[in-house]
Amino acid sequence: MTQENHTPRDNRTHYQQDSVMGHEYDGIQEFDNRLPNWWLWIMWGSMIFALFYWITFHTLKLQPLPQARFEQVMLQAQEDQLARAAKAGITNETLVMMSQVPSKITEGHELFVKHCVACHLDKGQGLVGPNLTDGYWIHGCEPMQMLKVIQTGVAAKGMPAWMNQLGPTRTQSVLAYVLTLRDTNVPGKESQGEPCEFK
Ligand code: HEC
Repeated sequence: MTQENHTPRDNRTHYQQDSVMGHEYDGIQEFDNRLPNWWLWIMWGSMIFALFYWITFHTLKLQPLPQARFEQVMLQAQEDQLARAAKAGITNETLVMMSQVPSKITEGHELFVKHCVACHLDKGQGLVGPNLTDGYWIHGCEPMQMLKVIQTGVAAKGMPAWMNQLGPTRTQSVLAYVLTLRDTNVPGKESQGEPCEFK
């Protein structure tokens, strides 16, 4: 094959075959070859992608990052599961499930701060009302039993009934929060009732 009918493998007009750059190290020289197009496409493509990615995810935060997205999806799944279970009826299990859903806990905490801290104090350690953080319960430690106390109250002992004021959903939320206080053992009012543990 002669030099004349050699066709370069890319379509550059000023193709300089095998020109050597002017440096040499330990007898090694470098050719000044053009980078292949596929390589350049990947390089420029990655740079443009990185720019858009950075702007979308980090600067403008238009989209959640993968970890946050994963957590969102898991939360949604948890809430859906709870909604399905609650539709079938409120049981100890659905109430425990509620006490693991952050949105319920937050809602319950707000209600607790508003309506319950006067008698049970901010950490549930008890004042007029009993300590909700110890392992002792007057009316039982099953979530359904606690829900009943919250909803119907204990008029003779000064625990108001909350069903009329808060309704079923919010009494469940506040209970969900109360369930998170269990066994936090905050020093406060001395224990009342029987030792009781619900698994
Ligand atoms: C006016 C004071 C008062 C307020 C407000 C109050 N409680 Fe009570 N709570 C009590 C008293 C007193 C008892 C104890 C009842 C008894 O001895 O039978 C009690 C008992 C309870 C119990 C049962 C504890 C056990 O050992 O069995 C739960 C659960 C409870 N309260 C939750 C709540 C929640 C949730 C709220 C807010 C929505 C709330 N309480 C608001 C006074 C109060």
